[in-house]
Amino acid sequence: MKTLLVTGGAGFIGSHVIRLFVNKYPDYHIFNLDKLTYAGNLLNLTDVENKPNYSFIKGDIVDGDFIMNLFKEHQFDGVIHLAAESHVDRSIENPMEFVMTNVIGTVNLLNAAKAVWKDNFEGKRFYHVSTDEVYGALGNEGFFTEETAYDPHSPYSASKAGSDHFVRAYHDTYGLPVIISNCSNNYGPNQFPEKLIPLFLNNIRNNQPLPVYGKGENVRDWLYVIDHAAAIDVIFHKGPDGETYNIGGHNEWKNIDLIKVLINVMDRKLGREPGTSEKLITYVTDRAGHDLRYAIDSSKLQNELGWKPSLQFEEGIEKTVDWYLNNQEWLDSTTSGDYQKYYEEMYGHR
Ligand code: NAD
Ligand code: TYD
Repeated sequence: MKTLLVTGGAGFIGSHVIRLFVNKYPDYHIFNLDKLTYAGNLLNLTDVENKPNYSFIKGDIVDGDFIMNLFKEHQFDGVIHLAAESHVDRSIENPMEFVMTNVIGTVNLLNAAKAVWKDNFEGKRFYHVSTDEVYGALGNEGFFTEETAYDPHSPYSASKAGSDHFVRAYHDTYGLPVIISNCSNNYGPNQFPEKLIPLFLNNIRNNQPLPVYGKGENVRDWLYVIDHAAAIDVIFHKGPDGETYNIGGHNEWKNIDLIKVLINVMDRKLGREPGTSEKLITYVTDRAGHDLRYAIDSSKLQNELGWKPSLQFEEGIEKTVDWYLNNQEWLDSTTSGDYQKYYEEMYGHR
C-alpha cells in the first residue's frame, strides 16, 4: 500500500493523471489536493470520485502550515506535483499569482516532504511536473534536450523555471529523491478554454472570432494529454532519482495550420460547408514576448524508459473535438461566471 499526493488533480492534466493512477493502482491511495481555482473543476473527476482509493482535499499549496500539517497527517510516500498557475497570458497580466503558487507553493511542498521524510528517503519520491517553456524559444531549427540551458521569457515560464531550480537544489543539497519532467503543449479533453485548442473549438462552435496572435507563425509541439499522463506514470515508477526527462510527441504545428485543421474537423462535424469557419480567423495584436517555436527531443525518455506516444495527431484531434462537442455541460460550467470578464479583459482591446 502506497499513499500518494497529487497536487492540481482537478485541473486538465492532473485529472488525467488521477484517473490513470486510481484505476491502474488499486493498492495505492491517491489524495488529490487542489485549491479549485478557475482552472480546477471536480466535474473532471466524476468517474473516479467514489472509488475507495481516492480522496479529495481542498487546499492551497501557498499555505505552508497547512501543507506541513497535511504531510504529517498522511505520511505520503510520494508526491506528483502538478498544481500551478498555467496560462501565459494570465501571467503577463498578473505575475505575482504565478510567483506565489508556482514558486512558493512548490517550495512549501519540498519543505514538507523534507521535514516529514527526514533523512529516510527509502521508497520516497517527489515528482515535479514542468514545461518545455523553461528552455525559452527555438529558431526554425533544433530541439530542446535535457541539456538545453534555461532561458524563460514569460512570467509563467520564469516561475516554472524557478520551481525546477528549487526542486533540483533540494536534491543536490538535502538528497531529496526528486524527479522532473518537462513536457510540450498538451491537448485533449478537459482543457480549460483559455488555451488555444479548446478556446478555438468553443469559438468555432459559437461562430465567434478566432483571435490569432501576430501572424499565426509560432510553432508548438502538441502531445495528447493521455500520453503525457502515461509518461508521468512511467517516469514516476522507473526513472532514477535526480533525473530529468523531456516529454513530447515530435508533432510540430504552426498555429495557423493547426487552426485550419480545427476548422476543417469542426465544419465537418457540425455539418457546415468545408472551410465555412475560416471567415472567423481574426489576426490580433501579438502576445508580448511571444516565443517563436517549441520542439522537444524526447529520445532520452523513449530510449531509457520505453515510453512513446500512443496516437497520431489526427486521431487525437478527432477525439478531442468529439469530447468538446459531447460535453456541453462541462463547457458551460467553465465559460459561465468570471470567464466572460476574463475574455473581455484579454481580447477586448486586441
Ligand atoms: P491547469 O491550469 O488546468 O490546472 C492547474 C490546477 O492546479 C487546477 O486544478 C488549479 O485549481 C490547481 N491550483 C492552482 N493553484 C493552486 C494552489 N495554489 N494550490 C492548490 N492547487 C492549485 O493546468 P494544467 O494545464 O493541467 O497543467 C498542470 C501542470 O502541468 C502545471 O504544472 C503546468 O505547468 C504543467 N504543464 C502543462 C502543460 C500544458 O500544455 N497544459 C505542458 C507542460 C507542463
Ligand atoms: P497557448 O495554448 O496559450 O499555449 P502556450 O502559449 O503555453 O504555448 O497558446 C498556444 C499558441 O497559440 C501560442 O503560440 C499562442 C497562440 N494563441 C493565439 O494565437 N491566440 C489565442 O487566443 C491563444 C490563447 C493562443
